Amino acid sequence: MCGIVGYIGKNNVKDVLINGLKSLEYRGYDSSGIALSDGKNIQIIKSIGRIKNLEDKINNEKLINAYKGIAHTRWATHGGANEINAHPHKVGKITLVHNGIIENMDYLKTKLEKQGYKFKSQTDSEIIAALIDSHLSDNTLKAINEATKEIIGSYALGIISELDKDCLYATRKDSPLLLGKGNEENFFASDITAINKYTNKFILLDEKEIAVLTEKDIKIYNDNLKEITQNIQKISIDKNSNSKLGYDHYMLKEIMEEPIVLEKTLKSYLENIDKLPDLSKYKQIHIVACGSALYAGMIGKFLFEKYANISCTCEVASEYRYKKNIYDQKTLVILISQSGETADTIAAMRQAKKENIDTLAIVNVKTSTIAREADIKLFIEAGPEIAVATTKAYILQVAMISLLAFKLAKPKLKDPKKIIDEFSKTPKIIKNILDKKETYLNIAKQIYQNENLFFIGRGLDYAISLEGSLKLKEISYIHSEAYQAGELKHGTISLVHEGMPIIAIITDDNLKDKTIANLREVEARGAKTFVICKDNLKEKETDITVPNTSDFTISLEIVPVLQLIAYEVAKLRNCDIDKPKNLAKSVTVE
Ligand code: AGP
Repeated sequence: MCGIVGYIGKNNVKDVLINGLKSLEYRGYDSSGIALSDGKNIQIIKSIGRIKNLEDKINNEKLINAYKGIAHTRWATHGGANEINAHPHKVGKITLVHNGIIENMDYLKTKLEKQGYKFKSQTDSEIIAALIDSHLSDNTLKAINEATKEIIGSYALGIISELDKDCLYATRKDSPLLLGKGNEENFFASDITAINKYTNKFILLDEKEIAVLTEKDIKIYNDNLKEITQNIQKISIDKNSNSKLGYDHYMLKEIMEEPIVLEKTLKSYLENIDKLPDLSKYKQIHIVACGSALYAGMIGKFLFEKYANISCTCEVASEYRYKKNIYDQKTLVILISQSGETADTIAAMRQAKKENIDTLAIVNVKTSTIAREADIKLFIEAGPEIAVATTKAYILQVAMISLLAFKLAKPKLKDPKKIIDEFSKTPKIIKNILDKKETYLNIAKQIYQNENLFFIGRGLDYAISLEGSLKLKEISYIHSEAYQAGELKHGTISLVHEGMPIIAIITDDNLKDKTIANLREVEARGAKTFVICKDNLKEKETDITVPNTSDFTISLEIVPVLQLIAYEVAKLRNCDIDKPKNLAKSVTVE
């Protein structure tokens, strides 16, 4: 999950590249680098740590008068975070930046070493540079085409060849890459946010296509080296998405945006629920995703089964893509993905499509691979989400899958109008919930010094607790686990110690007493317990409550509470909330 950006044109190349890297930093931030070219010389500057370190280093260097360049921010896959492994990598006449993973790197490295190539870094990316260089005679485009045919794995590449003074090359397979068309300047980037400051005209590069960018124009070739016509799309995104708008962190800003983006996403469907696809022809649903998106799927599974009476599984994409899946033409595979570029989720989608199984994607990034390849697409309108830990996109994933389940269940529901009404009131309810930040800060103060913590719940509450736990651990580094409340006593209760925080989520009227009983069990062993529940289930003054609404909307009310608790805990622990260690926003590698 790295970020790449390239530029050719009359603007200040270093500024365009550094600005681009700053917007891509959420994709990986353990090291970075740029390569500048004036057509004769290549100047490469690299640095470990944040983009700021690279910028400071560049500002202390005498720069060549470049008119083109490539840049990279890294999330280490092969080899540690150091300047040798940082990109760009230069071998022979080829300098490149790479996002992806080369699975046959050992084979290629041995082959190239036999041809006399020596490698300085531990990366697979340096091997690609050597591979292209080994195919280079007098035609870079041909060399890139031949070399990439030998690669097994994923790549988005930005390439400078010393054979060609006036152009840059870009190509992709399984990793995201788009082109930006400017006025006497052209761009490539992993993500639109890296270059939308300079243009609103984009070309989504398709699998294995190779782009040749000059100052004046862009040419694109397919993998038979036939030039193809370009589909230039005008895409505008909210300029504020790159600004914290006065909040301390992007994560807090994006949590606070939840009422607005929820309203935007739900509005058209609540006005006309028939705008949602009719799923009644399917006999089973497979929901497939990773991380928080998977946990949104768990909420969907609960609702599909309980209210639409349809068999529904919810599985981790990295498992699903390799296992034997039992589907038939009455199966629908639902992919949930904010970025639309999660490698495992893409692979699961492609596996289903290969079996001619219908695929439906709930996705945020409209230019993403999943958005382009799924049969049915439902876009959430979260806008760009900069904080690595997902919040507004996650809650919209929950909203969309809950709405889908509601539509399928509607004929069986006593009072569907009431549910629609609750959906439409949810943004306002969340706004009121978010206003109670002091309450969540008070909880945070009681738990932030602990290193271990449990969330517990039953049924839907367990599904909700999974995300509460993930959000806390990924930004505060507290080891937190979500457990089915009834499962604790089957072993895990041995971990409960004096003062250990245990947070129970209780929204099911019929299961409340069971979960309360589980809380008594852990309190008897010294746990410090907290309850987040519907207001009609409140027992103690300290219980945190949300308005009592149906299962279709109650998750949307609980989640912001969990997000703000996680946020406040991470803040008290002085963690890097927007860019937690070891994480990256879009996991475009296996
Ligand atoms: C980030 O907060 C999430 N924790 C992360 O697990 C994310 O949900 C997961 O990587 C899937 O990303 P996607 O929604 O872009 O596919």
